Amino acid sequence: MIGNNVKHLAGYVIQHTRSLIIVLVALLSVALSLLAIGFVFRKLVDHGLGGDQISEIHSSIYLISLLIGIFSVGSFFRSYFINVITVKVISKLKSETYSNLLKVGLVQFEDLKVGDIISRLGLDIETIGSLIINFLSFFIRNSIMLCGAIILMFIQSPKLSLLVLISIPVLLFPLLKLSKHVRKLSQRVLIEQATLAANIEENFSGVRTLYAYNQQEFAAVQFDNRIESYIKHASIRLKLRSLFFALAIVVIAGSITVVIWIGSIDILEGSMSSGQMVSFIYYAIIVGMSAGGIAELFSELQGPLAALDRVFELKNLSHIIKPKQTSRLIGNNYTIKFDKVVFAYPSRPDIPALDNISLKIKHGKFTGIVGRSGSGKSTLMQLLLKFYEHQSGKISIGENDIKTLQDEIIRSKIAYVEQHPTIFSGTIRSNIAFSRPKASDKEVAKIAEICGILDFVKSLKQGLDTEIGERGVRVSGGQKQRIAIARALLYNPEILLLDEATSALDNDSEKKILQNIRVFMKGYSIISIAHRISSIENADEILVINQGTLASCGSHSELLRNSKIYGILYKEQEN
Ligand SMILES: Nc1ncnc2c1ncn2[C@@H]1O[C@H](COP(=O)(O)OP(=O)(O)OP(=O)(O)O)[C@@H](O)[C@H]1O
Ligand SMILES: [Mg+2]
Repeated sequence: MIGNNVKHLAGYVIQHTRSLIIVLVALLSVALSLLAIGFVFRKLVDHGLGGDQISEIHSSIYLISLLIGIFSVGSFFRSYFINVITVKVISKLKSETYSNLLKVGLVQFEDLKVGDIISRLGLDIETIGSLIINFLSFFIRNSIMLCGAIILMFIQSPKLSLLVLISIPVLLFPLLKLSKHVRKLSQRVLIEQATLAANIEENFSGVRTLYAYNQQEFAAVQFDNRIESYIKHASIRLKLRSLFFALAIVVIAGSITVVIWIGSIDILEGSMSSGQMVSFIYYAIIVGMSAGGIAELFSELQGPLAALDRVFELKNLSHIIKPKQTSRLIGNNYTIKFDKVVFAYPSRPDIPALDNISLKIKHGKFTGIVGRSGSGKSTLMQLLLKFYEHQSGKISIGENDIKTLQDEIIRSKIAYVEQHPTIFSGTIRSNIAFSRPKASDKEVAKIAEICGILDFVKSLKQGLDTEIGERGVRVSGGQKQRIAIARALLYNPEILLLDEATSALDNDSEKKILQNIRVFMKGYSIISIAHRISSIENADEILVINQGTLASCGSHSELLRNSKIYGILYKEQEN
């Protein structure tokens, strides 16, 4: 699983071949120039200082300056191109994950938290950037330097080299043992960060409810508790890391002290030159630092690896695989039929929301749907829009079984005004034009008039271009509904679905807007779910839904005569 995700990420990086080659060349020149400096040190000490030759000292310093020059130019190219690759890879991953999320079944969003998605698409993806930078930059450079320095150290003194090499496993072993633990902790820390984000998102989007019930303090305490748990896990992780640092210092400094000790004796005995000793220590420091750096990287990588898993989980969220579907609707009759349809929501598979329901909604008519709360009215619309798939029976539009139709083709014919319409941050105009962004200002204004929006917009200085705040906090409930209806009409649908779409309007306003809608939609179908029977009284046909089935249907007067449930509902409202 981990291996797969890393391979997957590597695939993204490898696409930037040209930049990668530049990075590798730069890394190589950085590493080699650093290694070569050690050799020059030996020449400087043995021939320059030891041999009293001023020209040797000059030439050594020129050489060191040249190597430092190569080192700095190499560092520039390394740093610049690694960061460019990282930014590009991360952006691509971000946009692919985002567009994948927009393709998964709506059902999957029942389990996903918005704050968690934001956290994965933001923080987690940025963390993956550090994985790429660390690997490309530090891991490769340190590995080259480690191998090079070990070889060069052996050239200077095999005996002392063995001494230094013993310390490397001492450094690496405990770390590899720790890394599994650190990874688990990193995962926990990320989950806790995401929970915090989800918590913030939820509390501030419902900030009015929070204030209304005086729950600010409770929310703050809850948040503090989460932060405490985050701090607890983060600090265990930091403790392990610091422990490792302390260990590394002891091992590296200790082995170098031993080298100086034994080396000094060797110099006195004449079996080693001072220059050899100086360059040996230089390489030993490089070996120690590179090995320590690699080991530290392993612990540092655990966080990004955990983040990688979380991002790929979203990126690879599977789509519901559908049998081959057609994008062609046969005929232009949009009569809707439910034939013995059974449906239970995936989260409650044992409780059918629709129970063997059969009904017919005629094309071009105004059809009302009534029934008690929870009887399955909204579910009918969700199924028609293919937000969910019914378990058995058949739903058809004209001659077309919706199972054989692509979701997009169905949704291109239907406009849906939800029971709780969504208003986006932006202006009134942008919210109406959401359904058809290319609509002209004139078209938007015409629809706005039909829906009575122009009347309330008149008093606003910026008219239709007034900002209405996140989720439309700056307009009333009824105004939100008008905007949502306008959005639906602008879509020019064949079928208009209204789910309690006018419930927040007063009787008179409701009557007016419904009249306007009927004129606008003449010849097309309107299906309106309503609790207030007065709003659908003069519908061509009314369907009465009860406990997931069709109880009866007919005109208002027919139903008053024949349907007991309808009679009761009507009477309740008269009172
Ligand atoms: N996403 C869901 N997951 C599980 N069960 C659901 C879901 N949405 C609705 N239900 C359940 O399905 C049943 C029918 O719900 P539906 O929303 O269709 O009722 P409704 O007739 O529109 O009611 P209301 O008039 O209150 O809007 C209810 O018992 C409800 O609890
Ligand atoms: Mg409903």
